[in-house]
Amino acid sequence: MVDLMEKIVSLSKRRGFVFPSSEIYGGFGSCYDFGPLGVELKNNIKKVWWNEMTKRHDDIVGLDASILMSPKVWKASGHLTAGFADELVECKKCHKRDRWDFVLARAFPGKVFIDKPENFKKQVIKYEIKCDCGGEWMEPKKFNLMMKTFVGPVEDEASVTYLRPETCQGIYTNFKNILQTMRMKIPFGVAQIGKAFRNEINPKDFIYRTREFEQMEMQWFCEPKTSPKFFNYWKKERINWYLSLGIRKQNLRAKEVPKNELPHYAKRAIDIEYKFPFGWKEIEGIHNRGDWDLSNHSKHSGEDLKYDPSTGSGQGYFPHVIETSVGVDRSLFAFLCDAYQEVKGGRTKTTKSAKELEVLLKLDKSLAPVKAAVLPLVKNKPELVKKAKQVYKLLKPNFVCLYDETGSIGRRYRRQDETGTLFCITVDFDSLKKDDVTVRNRDTMKQKRIKIKDLVEEINKKLK
Ligand code: GAP
Repeated sequence: MVDLMEKIVSLSKRRGFVFPSSEIYGGFGSCYDFGPLGVELKNNIKKVWWNEMTKRHDDIVGLDASILMSPKVWKASGHLTAGFADELVECKKCHKRDRWDFVLARAFPGKVFIDKPENFKKQVIKYEIKCDCGGEWMEPKKFNLMMKTFVGPVEDEASVTYLRPETCQGIYTNFKNILQTMRMKIPFGVAQIGKAFRNEINPKDFIYRTREFEQMEMQWFCEPKTSPKFFNYWKKERINWYLSLGIRKQNLRAKEVPKNELPHYAKRAIDIEYKFPFGWKEIEGIHNRGDWDLSNHSKHSGEDLKYDPSTGSGQGYFPHVIETSVGVDRSLFAFLCDAYQEVKGGRTKTTKSAKELEVLLKLDKSLAPVKAAVLPLVKNKPELVKKAKQVYKLLKPNFVCLYDETGSIGRRYRRQDETGTLFCITVDFDSLKKDDVTVRNRDTMKQKRIKIKDLVEEINKKLK
């Protein structure tokens, strides 16, 4: 399985999905850049999520709030207090720093610790836990994950603010604006996609845990007594979303978060987990946040954020919130892992040995970064190249396309399979006479001749 991780990282770099950030300067800890195919995949994930939330569901509107917000927001939300902090330990000998829960998980894989992390001494003695270098760990300290910055030219206490660690706070601070401008009636939701930042102690596992990432969050405002019903509804909806995009059932599960591990704002939480090469890990959180956010922002700002069922004018009660929160980068990683397949002996005729492996990235058609690749059968026949470029020009305004003339046709099919391209369109000698092309389907490898004039319509039909 670790092998799969290496293969995904290597494919990502080699084929333009994900590059290490600032690579020419030796990289910059845990930051990544999304390359030409990575950005298409990322945009597709965001588009599919946005459509799912705002088109397939009723009563969900969108928002794009700013990353920088008043620091008062983070005081009210509880993020500046101990609530949004991890336990940091440091080795007395080599001074390596790590998250205490990660140290425990590494030392005893699969073991569930009933001892609270703060029972550090008891755990160290009982389990004889030491750093890899043999050194002892210092007592853990709380480490707040907020990314601090300054606004304006003076770097003093008054100009301190934070990069948002979750996107949803902009939704709560705009609750009244949205109610009033859109005349929303409870229950309703607000969806948002945007960057979030956390000063993670130990970012790791490629793009799984990074300090800068993107979230797709939806906050569902409802009557307090209906929140358990909506919690279950959204849990089911979100799991079905992954399944509808081809994630295999056996690689997905929902895990109830134990009471002592709940985030500071949640009354109940479920992690949707994916079976990554490095184990089952969270890709999305479903949270019942109760009235934690609206009541705290009301208290700290002095604004009445209650909902009045008759007028919506701010009297009445604080709605409860069911939140669905997924990382774009983390879900992209899960989609890549799930789509990655190796075919022994090869699918195409170019594979010479039975042991040779051909890679197929079987991404859902809505997610595949490139929908069609246009390939002249050979590149040394100017009339074929000319025709293929005409076909490419015809398709390009309609969907993401590539033109590729380098290498044998079999090798070019393999290259496209490796990045999940849905259709390979080959321009051959018959194309010159009959004005048609062969269209090869990525999954079935079946080839069909289609008239060039019908290509856009035919491909669009298949993409629906
Ligand atoms: N607003 C609630 C919230 O932020 P969370 O469980 O802390 O909840 C939600 O985060 C999702 O955001 C996670 O399931 C994950 O997909 C993504 N995420 C959180 N921290 C991340 C990190 N350091 N790197 C990448 N993605 C992260």
